[in-house]
Amino acid sequence: MTDSATTPGNTTDDVLDIPFPDAFAFDPSPTWARLREEAPAVRVRTLAGALVWLVTRYDDVRLVLADPRFSRAGVVAPGAPRVGVSRPLPGTLPTTDPPEHTRLRRLVSGAFSPRRVEATRPWVRGLCEELADGLAEGGDLRQVFALPLPIQVICTLLGVPYADRERFREWVELAYSLEVSERSRVEAAMAGLLEYVGGLVARKRRAGRSDDVLDELCATPLTHDELVAFAVNLLVAGHETSANQITSFVATLLRDRRHWERLVAEPGLVPAAVEELMRFTRLSDVGQLRVALEDVEVAGVVVRAGEGVMASIGSANRDPRAFPEPDELDLTRAPNQHLALGAGPHFCLGAQLARIELQEALWALLRRYPGLRPARPVDELVWRRVLVSGLAELPVVPE
Ligand code: HEM
Repeated sequence: MTDSATTPGNTTDDVLDIPFPDAFAFDPSPTWARLREEAPAVRVRTLAGALVWLVTRYDDVRLVLADPRFSRAGVVAPGAPRVGVSRPLPGTLPTTDPPEHTRLRRLVSGAFSPRRVEATRPWVRGLCEELADGLAEGGDLRQVFALPLPIQVICTLLGVPYADRERFREWVELAYSLEVSERSRVEAAMAGLLEYVGGLVARKRRAGRSDDVLDELCATPLTHDELVAFAVNLLVAGHETSANQITSFVATLLRDRRHWERLVAEPGLVPAAVEELMRFTRLSDVGQLRVALEDVEVAGVVVRAGEGVMASIGSANRDPRAFPEPDELDLTRAPNQHLALGAGPHFCLGAQLARIELQEALWALLRRYPGLRPARPVDELVWRRVLVSGLAELPVVPE
């Protein structure tokens, strides 16, 4: 690791701070387009004070996500650059490289295979219908619908009691914080989450096998600590993303009602619309971090071994080199090779599950509430300043 990559404040201050000051809004900061055109690889300073490279063009983002010379294990090595307040847990899928990553991924790839996940679709559909009932008088779509759906799905698949959701939600909220002043609370939150899941895993080991994913993992050679880190990662990755996306998707469709009305009239477009909404709606105003294992040329610069590189999926998905009219929401866009679910060995494990949740969520809401509208102008709504971002609330009325 070079000192310049990690030392807080060690800059001549024309270095951009990330997230940008105009992040956390519906439309992407204009800085993304400027960087794509003028400086496709640029040094930025993270909130934790680390200096890292940022790449913004589609091809470069794809390369950094998928090329084994850019390591995820390096992100948790001692002295590694940090993006936010919390340190990612070592030994999980997102923090290991092949061959360790391949070994871990094999343990769960069966449980999340498209065939097994597709079998859950009727049950997910039923949950969507049930939760949609809760909006009959209007309310906050995030709290009433978008959060409970993926939480209930991932809890059931993993074997985590749904009744415990209040406890782990509070910890998860803090664990993604970008407020450096909250460091001690964030660390306490992560410790609480590990302790909670640790207790759960110990109980499951004693109780013997049933048929959920944690029970399957208990039967593998994973140590207790490995299993707990793995489970925390699945629990968090398995709901925070989908919940934010459901809320943002509905808000985006209602922001220009013609999109909502088109899907009401043509519900068969929902699968293509979900892909387009994934491309259009960025989940993070930061980027996916990797650490170079050797010197690598990318976007016209040489990234030195040990330096951090952030790949902005949100920016890649708006790159005119990859998508004609990238700032238009085109519900029938094809082809649509967006990077919202990543690329390469770390491609989203829950991709198929996410697609089912998003499609069924939209279908249920379109069917039940064709006249749905926001209770307040969506441009006035607040975005959460966290690593995996989305709207803080989406108050809606049925018509
Ligand atoms: C709309 C919803 C979702 C989005 C947009 C999303 C996005 C992503 C992205 C971009 C990555 C790759 C990150 C990187 O390469 O650095 C990823 C990885 C991952 N996702 Fe998702 N995800 C979603 C839902 C889910 C769900 C429902 C699960 C449930 C199991 C899940 C589990 C994971 C896991 C475990 C990884 C790490 C995979 C690995 O490193 O091998 N995700 N996700």
